[in-house]
Amino acid sequence: MLTVKTIAGARAAVARLRVERHCIGLVPTMGALHEGHLSLVRAAKAACDAVVATIFVNPTQFAPGEDFSTYPRRFEADCALLEAEGVDVVFAPEAAEMYPAGASTIVEVEEISDRLDGLSRPGHPRGVATVVAKLFNIVQPDKAFFGQKDAAQVAVLRHMVRDQNYNLELVVCPTVRETDGLAMSSRNHYLSADERRSALVLSRTLRHIEARIAAGVVESAPLIDAGLAVLAEEPEIRLDYLRIVDPETLEDVADVSAGALVAVAAAVGPARLIDNVLIPPR
Ligand code: PAJ
Repeated sequence: MLTVKTIAGARAAVARLRVERHCIGLVPTMGALHEGHLSLVRAAKAACDAVVATIFVNPTQFAPGEDFSTYPRRFEADCALLEAEGVDVVFAPEAAEMYPAGASTIVEVEEISDRLDGLSRPGHPRGVATVVAKLFNIVQPDKAFFGQKDAAQVAVLRHMVRDQNYNLELVVCPTVRETDGLAMSSRNHYLSADERRSALVLSRTLRHIEARIAAGVVESAPLIDAGLAVLAEEPEIRLDYLRIVDPETLEDVADVSAGALVAVAAAVGPARLIDNVLIPPR
């Protein structure tokens, strides 16, 4: 596995891969890798001839006061995990390489970026779109792999790929969970044992709503009420949103018959956690 830190190095490494490999897969990450990230790498290995993973804690997607400085950084351990999965190239630039002095171009996916996480983290979707556009331009992958866990990110990036005519397939992989249901996240490291127990209410809420839908409830309003009742079991969590939306536009839907995304976000102790479930069309 080759590890490169510069854009020129990444371009040269990908050019060498291109000589013999037809399909190049890209797995962008911010590191502190867990099984969720590794599931994307495995999907990329299965679907592509070569895999490029990136590790970059992207400063532009964190607002002032968010956890950029404390975000876990485990470069050596991450590289060992990626090597064991058979990744071909790791691109791990410094911030100054990605954003040299004077960099002033941003990628803004309008409207959709103001929904779900974008409402409470206004600059976040723009930071994600900007860095992912840069990674797409540097690596020029045939397929790029993202997790359904970050459903709003997926919706924003789908729009970006379509609107900006990126010549790649965006592959979305299912959320990987701990055995007790907690969605895996690098931010789970922030939780104390008690907070981790409280955090389980997010997946419990989603499962409860799924069960109500399986029992025949299709209107969003009673489903949200049922979910809020479960969330109230853990008063120490600070709910950001529980919404039932169209997975493509992130706009609220009145009922789930045509398929929907049930998404929840809450602060638990020092961590802001998100989770969601996709409801298939009836
Ligand atoms: P990060 O949070 O490191 O996540 C990298 C990728 O792993 C994302 O596509 C995310 O959705 C996926 N992922 C995280 N937890 C997952 C889980 N439990 N199951 C399945 N997939 C999971 O998302 C980012 O980084 C950044 O915004 C990035 C796209 C790298 C741009 O900076």
